[in-house]
Amino acid sequence: MDSNQVKQRRNTVKLDGETFPFTEGETIYEVAERQRKNIPTLCYDPRLEPFGSCRLCIVDVEGSRNPVASCTTLVTPEMVVSTSSKKINKYRKILLEMVISENHGQLDVDPLRGYASQELKVLADQYQSRTERFGGEHSGISNQVDDNPFILRDYDLCISCYRCVRVCAEQEGDHAINIMHRGFDSQISTEFNGTLKDSACTFCGQCIQTCPTGALADKKAIRNAHLAGEIDKTRSICPYCGVGCSIDLLTKEDKLVGIQPAMDGPANKGALCVKGQFAFDFVQHPDRLTTPLVRGQDGQFHQASWEQALDQAAEGFRKVVQEHGRHSVYGVASGRAPSEAAYLMQKFIRAGFGTNYIDNCSRA
Ligand code: SF4
Ligand code: SF4
Ligand code: FES
Repeated sequence: MDSNQVKQRRNTVKLDGETFPFTEGETIYEVAERQRKNIPTLCYDPRLEPFGSCRLCIVDVEGSRNPVASCTTLVTPEMVVSTSSKKINKYRKILLEMVISENHGQLDVDPLRGYASQELKVLADQYQSRTERFGGEHSGISNQVDDNPFILRDYDLCISCYRCVRVCAEQEGDHAINIMHRGFDSQISTEFNGTLKDSACTFCGQCIQTCPTGALADKKAIRNAHLAGEIDKTRSICPYCGVGCSIDLLTKEDKLVGIQPAMDGPANKGALCVKGQFAFDFVQHPDRLTTPLVRGQDGQFHQASWEQALDQAAEGFRKVVQEHGRHSVYGVASGRAPSEAAYLMQKFIRAGFGTNYIDNCSRA
């Protein structure tokens, strides 16, 4: 056996009796997740640095006196791990009972609140933790009067997992929110405990989408919570800019009720900006243009066919070039256009008008 074979053999871990390979630097959770071991988590978001606060992901490691948090514990060669047992599941149930006592027991929140809003509820049911055994103090004071149009701050439901704080810092680089005080006085807060509008918040909505309890919620989507019908998700691409973030359109019957970021979107990995996250009213707005409009002799817009509209636009271009020369035309292709359309656009400007004044809005 050569040294490579020895190394390969040593880079294995035993999970629930089976041997699996791992790469140096991987955590127990990452290896277990790859093997579909279904370890529960609450403070974990795969896009963020592991935090290790909820302890729900505990597993037994042979030789270790106490269970360890799998999301923060690195795998070592020939480690022997048990991801589930009667004892571990009992610990998880008790941990969940304590967590639930934190959020006033309000588990059944509408899924329109956010992408991860059902996580605590699902775990509570899975581990039968709705026992209300632990009463007493709660942390977090709701800040529902924050008069922004996008983010509901319902901290009665907060379990202090810090996912919102961490996503704001690590994903967005924004540091708009942080944790104020400790223990039962813990409170997610902005600088000087003001409103989000007066903070560094860019309203990207990342905090909403990572919150596992719905304490942070999408104000625009939950306006539609009363509508009947199941929520359907349809994968699409944000129409606003050339980044091309993947989104899931949330619909009920034929109505668009909200947007969620696609966590597996190749360009955005779950991130969106304020436009992609919240600016979807135009889709079903009564003022939305559905036919071409051309300005008549009376100076007013009138409905027209596409032929009429395109003829009028062509006439306008011809007139401008005749009066001001070929360089008076400047083309800007849409960053959302496919390559074929972008190619046609530059052909249209270069061959059609004889100028190189052509660009793409993605460079703006
Ligand atoms: S608001 Fe939500 S994401 Fe933030 S700490 Fe509380 S429970 Fe966690
Ligand atoms: S960066 Fe913003 S506007 Fe551009 S595609 Fe992504 S969500 Fe849409
Ligand atoms: S998920 Fe590992 S400690 Fe919270």
